[in-house]
Amino acid sequence: MKIVKLLLLLAVLGIGAAATVMFSGVVNVAADEPHSDLVYWLLEETRENAIKKAAQAIEVPDLSEPELLLTGGVDYEFMCSGCHLKPGQSESDMSIGLYPAPLI
Ligand code: HEC
Repeated sequence: MKIVKLLLLLAVLGIGAAATVMFSGVVNVAADEPHSDLVYWLLEETRENAIKKAAQAIEVPDLSEPELLLTGGVDYEFMCSGCHLKPGQSESDMSIGLYPAPLI
């Protein structure tokens, strides 16, 4: 019974702490200012783990196939290059304000 009360107290304290952070506005989520190390770490860990989980069932195709690369190149041009840029390009209207900046 004692352990249940302790767990309940910890849950209430945790929810209270989360609500305090949420409603105080102390965490700046704006993309035009770098996050604190803690917030950056939390976001990166969350993102990395979400990608790992979502990508588990994806089978990497044979990327040595030239036709596949050509097909992907067209898709990349239309869907990705605005932010991830293309060879010889150092920035675009889209890429300038991205934070975190995507790898090129
Ligand atoms: C609107 C802008 C935008 C577009 C369009 C876009 N991306 Fe991104 N992408 C980003 C940003 C910003 C990040 C970095 C996110 C981070 O580090 O948290 C990113 C990250 C990634 C990453 C992880 C590695 C890295 O660069 O940080 C991959 C892989 C990726 N994008 C693939 C794609 C592909 C494939 C497309 C097209 C189908 C695409 N993206 C289109 C903005 C974009």
